Amino acid sequence: MAIGLHQPILDWYAANARDLPWRRPEASPWAVLVSEIMLQQTPVVRVLPIWAEWMARWPTPAALAAEPPGEAVRHWGRLGYPRRALNLHACARAITTDHGGEVPSAYEELRRLPGIGDYTAAAVASFAFGRSHAVLDTNVRRVLARAVRGEEYPPTATTAAERRLAESLIPAVDAPRWAVAVMELGALVCTARAPRCADCPVAARCAWRLAGRPAYQGPERRG
Ligand code: ADE
Repeated sequence: MAIGLHQPILDWYAANARDLPWRRPEASPWAVLVSEIMLQQTPVVRVLPIWAEWMARWPTPAALAAEPPGEAVRHWGRLGYPRRALNLHACARAITTDHGGEVPSAYEELRRLPGIGDYTAAAVASFAFGRSHAVLDTNVRRVLARAVRGEEYPPTATTAAERRLAESLIPAVDAPRWAVAVMELGALVCTARAPRCADCPVAARCAWRLAGRPAYQGPERRG
């Protein structure tokens, strides 16, 4: 059903990906974790300078753990939802005391850290440690809703069917690259309100486009 999505999306990513510092090979697992928490509710352009400042100030979990929690909030800047700063600080302390200062690589251990939900645990296990996980953020969910299910938007909350679909698409080789490629396609081309189908590498096989881009029929949603 979804045959043929992989190579066009991976090729598109190779040519079009943004060079984001947390995606570089030298980014530490801690750098990836900090980026994913910051990116949860804040756009990339606003995250970039604050992330860089944080990583310069606190390059390791132990460095942040040594500070009082208020310092994390103070340097959170205008990213919004400052509870995330407290969660990151609590993460840093848990990593320092329970994991010898190293961000754990297993999904289950990541999931137990303060403020780390399913998405962030899967993203860190995948992007920082090369593990194979379904990484279901809103961009990925929207791309799969359109390209495979023929719907304009995904359901309001992640369903078991979406998870099964995402898992069925994970390639045997380089799962993290596939995850970030789909995410980037959703962020840059298959956007929520004004998708640029003319620039999409899978437009010719997109179920939503082939159906004439029908409007979303589900319950009220925000995004
Ligand atoms: N690259 C890796 N994770 C990302 C995210 N959550 N948002 C944007 N780019 C990313």
